[in-house]
Amino acid sequence: MSNEGKLRLGVNIDHVATLRNARGSPYPDPVRAAKLAEEAGADGITAHLREDRRHIVDADIEGLMEALEVPLNFEMAATPEMQAIALRHKPHAVCIVPEKREERTTEGGLDVAGDDNRLADFIAPLRDVGCRVSLFVGHEARQIEASARIGAAVVELHTGAYCDYHYEGEFDKRDKELEGLRAGAALAHSLGLEVHAGHGLTYETVKPIAAMPEVMELNIGHFLMGESIFRGLGPAIAEMRRLMDEARE
Ligand code: PXP
Repeated sequence: MSNEGKLRLGVNIDHVATLRNARGSPYPDPVRAAKLAEEAGADGITAHLREDRRHIVDADIEGLMEALEVPLNFEMAATPEMQAIALRHKPHAVCIVPEKREERTTEGGLDVAGDDNRLADFIAPLRDVGCRVSLFVGHEARQIEASARIGAAVVELHTGAYCDYHYEGEFDKRDKELEGLRAGAALAHSLGLEVHAGHGLTYETVKPIAAMPEVMELNIGHFLMGESIFRGLGPAIAEMRRLMDEARE
């Protein structure tokens, strides 16, 4: 990705597609939003092709692969269908996430420790075609250690619980979660994994995560898309970038 050494911002454009699909119209177009995000300084674009195609659909992935100059981080569940799609497109990065049909969003991290043989076999062909494989995990040491063991290049630490506690006013729990994330980031880095983080991040919650020196990339979507209603997508991204840079100084 560009901006070597600098904390990267991956913009997740799933919810542009959520809005489009709510009316079955051809607009708003997530590829157009991705290009705008790119112009506004996004270092990468993230899109999650869910099994039920509730937001991003197959044609969006094709459109993104064709249109983007920045790398695509393709989020997907560890299923044969998704593996075949990733092998066809060969995106820069593939982030494996757990997926349940009934969930509103990705609720927890992957159980890499409990499914290591299957996941090792699953990610090998992706690595062989040159995709950087990232595993979306909680900050528990055993999940991070298992991720390194099976040969992932990256772990993306799940910041959802930290953000939820913040907005619920559960500050002790939030701070404990933050400590766990800090320890997880340090452990992952010490094992040679590149560390990313994301889920639920907002202007209020981004700074402590951006300040972790091991974290190289944040993936942020839902909040930015909501905020773009008020500021426009470019300015919403620029403000996130500003807060990330400030936290890093
Ligand atoms: N990272 C991963 C692995 C995700 O699954 C998601 C949600 O799709 C995000 C980051 C972005 O989360 P949010 O949309 O809450 O910013």
